[in-house]
Order: sequence, then structure tokens, then C-alpha cells
Amino acid sequence: MVFFSITCILLSLLVASLSHASPVSREFSSSGLSLPSLDSKSWLCRLVHTTRAQKLCLREESTAISVNTPLGAAQGVVNVSGVSRFAAKYASAKRWSPSTVVTAWALPNGSTNVSALPLMCPQPFVDNSTFTEDCMSMILHVPTTLHADSCVPTLMWVHGGSFMVGSATNPGLDGSALALATDSIVAVIQYRLGALGFVAPNNQTNLGLGDVVNALKFLTTVLPSFGGDPSKITVAGQSSGANLIRALLAVPSAQSLFQSAILQSDPMDYGFLSSFDQVQLQQFFVSNLGCTATDLACLNALTADNIVNGAGLWQFNSSVSVVPAATQAAPMRVVDDGTFITSTLDSTSPFPRVSKPILLSNVLHEGGYTIYRSFSSPVPETEYVAIVNASFGETRYETLVGSQSYAVETAQNDDYRPQLQVLATDSIWQCATWTFARNWVSNGGTAYVGLYSLGASYPGNSAVSFCTEPGVVCHQDDIEIVFGTALDPDSAQSALIIEMQARYKSFLYSGNPNADDSSFANWEAAGASDVNAIMLGSTGDAPVGACTPSFWGQSVAYDYQVFDI
Ligand SMILES: *[C@@H]1O[C@H](CO)[C@@H](O)[C@H](O)[C@H]1NC(C)=O
Ligand SMILES: *[C@@H]1O[C@H](CO)[C@@H](O)[C@H](O)[C@H]1NC(C)=O
Ligand SMILES: *[C@@H]1O[C@H](CO)[C@@H](O)[C@H](O)[C@H]1NC(C)=O
Ligand SMILES: *[C@@H]1O[C@H](CO)[C@@H](O)[C@H](O)[C@H]1NC(C)=O
Ligand SMILES: *[C@@H]1O[C@H](CO)[C@@H](O)[C@H](O)[C@H]1NC(C)=O
Ligand SMILES: *[C@@H]1O[C@H](CO)[C@@H](O)[C@H](O)[C@H]1NC(C)=O
Ligand SMILES: *[C@@H]1O[C@H](CO)[C@@H](O)[C@H](O)[C@H]1NC(C)=O
Repeated sequence: MVFFSITCILLSLLVASLSHASPVSREFSSSGLSLPSLDSKSWLCRLVHTTRAQKLCLREESTAISVNTPLGAAQGVVNVSGVSRFAAKYASAKRWSPSTVVTAWALPNGSTNVSALPLMCPQPFVDNSTFTEDCMSMILHVPTTLHADSCVPTLMWVHGGSFMVGSATNPGLDGSALALATDSIVAVIQYRLGALGFVAPNNQTNLGLGDVVNALKFLTTVLPSFGGDPSKITVAGQSSGANLIRALLAVPSAQSLFQSAILQSDPMDYGFLSSFDQVQLQQFFVSNLGCTATDLACLNALTADNIVNGAGLWQFNSSVSVVPAATQAAPMRVVDDGTFITSTLDSTSPFPRVSKPILLSNVLHEGGYTIYRSFSSPVPETEYVAIVNASFGETRYETLVGSQSYAVETAQNDDYRPQLQVLATDSIWQCATWTFARNWVSNGGTAYVGLYSLGASYPGNSAVSFCTEPGVVCHQDDIEIVFGTALDPDSAQSALIIEMQARYKSFLYSGNPNADDSSFANWEAAGASDVNAIMLGSTGDAPVGACTPSFWGQSVAYDYQVFDI
């Protein structure tokens, strides 16, 4: 039975990028250093600047830009008016080995074309000429007004795609507008995907997450040259990108590399994989690969294409039958290995003391695409109970259908798709996120929780008509709001873009999404019981529904509790 599949994510990523207005060249000004302020972080930032004599300059009569960094000259282009774009390789790796940060500035995959965008990491469903294993690259979006001592924050974006697809060049991810609106640098990164990033035959784990850490290390080195303060990095991501950020929060060695985090639509229900499950999944992968785990000649002779479209695709669609905790949606993911990642950061084990401010958001209909794509006609009661039973097992099924939120007998026209949609949204995303917020706050952290009641339909989502209905906000429909890349936004969308970018700016600068002089509603931090979730795109508090402290996670277990991850 197809239930929580994520075909939505796969399909919508195949749509072409949006285009922008033509580039206009702008002059960089390089002003002198100003006196250190009382703010210790800015003071440090300026100190870093004085020790690295860097210069931003614009080549005459050209849109090409060169910036001196500690790793050599960075080459970029003016992308849209007021923002330049630098495509860069941040790390390299041998197949199925940990990556290492580059020691010299380089364009992606040995390119000599400063205008070219990075090739994607190997993944199924795309032409193999669009990807390369030499894919640990990022795109930096830098406002042209920045200068050596600007010391602005950076938002590092981690894309989604179920750890298997996606890239920095996906639709809507042009960081230019976001960089301008937040007066920040926006870095959109890539990391190894699928079996190449998360299922190595040689017992390496979390390779893709290690890439993300190396992207942060690279930024720490080069940001001062672009006017960025390396002590003010916020990591942000959506869906599996947000999941990777939650993993990053559980990596002690990475804590000094970023100050705050934004998690949009993290499917938190799944949790990380246990080492035990990871080993089973790895053996299953090797059994489909046509090489033994130690036959290096055989492993190296495989093309990336062979891996992602052969055993990799098999791994994606069949892992759940080998290890139920693998899930249908994200079978290749991070593992709680006890050394790199040292906590599950969920309700199954002690939660460490935390301090970083985090911003957590969901959209109103996270499960909309999946449910309405899987069930194109009404779901009657008999089918509903069978689906819930099959998806959650008998124990959880009985509590669920006996509860007010997902009860039988309440469907209009004998169509239970609305209940299934809410159930998917609550269990996989929203209630799991609220449980996490409570845990975070109870252990010393600050969390702000929001729910998008308005979005911008992400390319591909229109394939499901439910997602195009007024008032419906499907998974991914928050992306182009945050980036300000929605095509022809109406006035409500434009207002939400302005609001979210202002809130993000404030969060990047101060760890609080309420600016001092804000005209927006107060966004109260989550409490240990009431998460104070606000509506983003309308007014008031988000309805709590079944996301109470006593229902999900207590009366009904999340997958990560059932599978004891
Ligand atoms: C460089 O890349 C840009 C963007 O992909 C492309 O339009 C241009 O033709 C490329 N230039 C060369 C010399 O290949
Ligand atoms: C990436 O770089 C490698 C090594 O130079 C080259 O063989 C390959 O053709 C490049 N990939 C693409 C798609 O340009
Ligand atoms: C700006 O860069 C993005 C990639 O981040 C690209 O999709 C877009 O086409 C560029 N815009 C222009 C005008 O070159
Ligand atoms: C992976 O680890 C297992 C035991 O945990 C070991 O038997 C196997 O030889 C290792 N594989 C490789 C390629 O090192
Ligand atoms: C790319 O795909 C084509 C067509 O399927 C295939 O012939 C070629 O071997 C593939 N290239 C690589 C490097 O996998
Ligand atoms: C799983 O992937 C393999 C390899 O591409 C394919 O042959 C098989 O039909 C797929 N199975 C399902 C159930 O999608
Ligand atoms: C739920 O599924 C189990 C196992 O498949 C089955 O034995 C049981 O009868 C089902 N219960 C209901 C109420 O459908």
C-alpha cells in the first residue's frame, strides 16, 4: 500500500529554474576599518579582517568579480542587480570516503567558466551529463554593497529531496533576493546524496553530513573576505535538508561552526537510523551492487550512473521491506553512530543541554501532496481504517481512530482523505516538530514555532489539484516565500515574503525573529508545554489539534519510538 511516499519531492525537483532580471553591474566600495564596537562578536570579526588583507574589486566594464580570499582569488559574476554570485567547490572526496575541505579556491568540477552553475550530485531521474561526483560545491550570493568590514551574518541553506535528489540549482533557490532583504550572505550548498552519501560498502557512515560540516568550515575561512562574520552563521533547510540540520545539532564537533538554525518542514517522525539498522541496510545495498564490499577494483569501476540508477534506486524503493525503520520516504539517511552524532535528539534518549536559538516551521498541509497523489478518488471508511491499520500497526491504529482528530464517523461524503491528510501532517511533521520544540526548550534552548497558512505553489505541486485549492499549503510551498522567488506573487504572498525575510533578517542578526522596530505580530518563544506556534500568512495562534503534549509521543508513539531508533 502506497501511503507516506515522497514522490512529490522527486517530481517537483525536476522542473526548470526560474529566471531573473538581467544583471546590472555595481561597484564595490572598500571602506576603511571602523573602530571596534562594544559588541564582542563584531570586534572579533573586525580583528579577523585586519589580519587578512582582502579587497573586493570590480573589473572595469565587466560583470566578472574577483575577491581575494585566504584560499586565493574567488571569481564570480554579478547575478541580479545588487548581488553577485560565486560558484565554488568547498570540498573533495574519493568515492565513499570522508570529504576534506579544499585548500585553494576553485570553481566546481574543475570548470573555468565563472558564469557556470555547479553540476548536481549524482542522483536518479536526471540526465547523467548534469551531475558529477565532484559535486561538493556551493553558490554564494553576496550583496554588492558589502565590504571588507561589513561583518554581516550568513544563511547557509541545505536543500531537501529525501537525501536522494536535489541541488543548489533547484527551482526557487536563487538566494539573491533573500541576501538583499536580510542584508546577509546566502550560501546554498550541495552534499553527497543517496548511496554515495549515506550507504557506503566500506562501513563509512554520515558522509553527506560530513560534507555539510565541511561546507561550514569552508565558509568560516572565506566569509571575512566577502564581508561576512564567520561567527554569525545560521544553518537553514527544508524537509530532509532540515533533517540534516537537526543531525548537525547532534554533532558536538560542529557546534562552534554555527550560531543558530532554521528547520522548515523536517519529517521528524523518522528519527536517525540506528547503527544496527544501518549495518543491515548496508549489507542489503552491497548484495545488490554486483561487487563485494572489499573489492575496490570492482567498486571503483562502477560509474556514478550505475550506482544511483542501479543499486541506489533499488535501495530507495526496497529498504523498508528489509528494515522497517528505514521508511519508504528516506531510507538512506544519517545514522546515530555514537561518535560523530552522539544523540538522537528525540524522545527516546536523554536530551543534552542545548543553547542555540532555533526556528521551526511547518506548512498547513504537509501531507497534502502525498495523500491526494496516492488516492485520486474518495477514500471510504473501510479503506480508511485499513490504511491507518497498515500504516501505524494495530496498537496505534486503535488509539488513532478512537481519537477525536482522526475518528471514523466524521467524514463528509464518505471521503476520509481529509483525515488521512491531517494524520500524515501531524504524525510525520507537525506534532513531531512540536514535541521536538518542547524538548529543546525543556533542555535550555530557545525555539520559535510557526505554521504557514499561505504559501507559493512549488513547481511540480500543481500536479495534485488539492495543492492548488485556495487556502491549501503543501510541502515545499514555503520555499519560494522565504527566498522571495515566487513567480507573480499576489499581495498577500508579497506581504508574507516581506514579513518572513524581515523575521529571518532579525533571526540571523540576533537569534530572535522579532525585530526591535517590528510592525509584525509578536512571535513568542515556545514554552515547555505550549509551543506558542503562530500562523505565518494569517493572524493568531496555530490550532493545536492533536499536537498536545499528551497525545503524539505519549498516547501514540512516533515511528522513532516504535522502532526504538
Ligand atoms: C559559461 O556558462 C554559462 C552559464 O551556463 C553559459 O551560458 C556560457 O555559454 C558558458 N561559457 C562558456 C565559454 O562555456
Ligand atoms: C567534471 O570533471 C571531470 C574531470 O575533469 C570531467 O571528466 C567531466 O566531464 C566533468 N563533468 C561535466 C559534466 O562537465
Ligand atoms: C542568478 O543565479 C541563479 C542561481 O543561483 C540563476 O538561477 C539565475 O538565473 C541567475 N540570474 C541571472 C539574471 O543570471
Ligand atoms: C564492516 O564492519 C563489519 C563488522 O562490523 C566487518 O565485518 C566488515 O569487514 C567491515 N567491512 C569493511 C569493508 O571494512
Ligand atoms: C550516461 O547515460 C548514457 C545513456 O544512458 C550512458 O550511455 C552513459 O554510459 C552514462 N554515462 C555515465 C558516465 O554513466
Ligand atoms: C525498484 O527499483 C528497481 C531498480 O531500478 C526497479 O527495477 C524496480 O522495479 C523498483 N521497484 C519498485 C517497486 O518500484
Ligand atoms: C489490522 O492489521 C492486522 C495485521 O495485518 C490484522 O490482523 C487486523 O485484523 C487488522 N485490524 C483491523 C481492525 O483491520
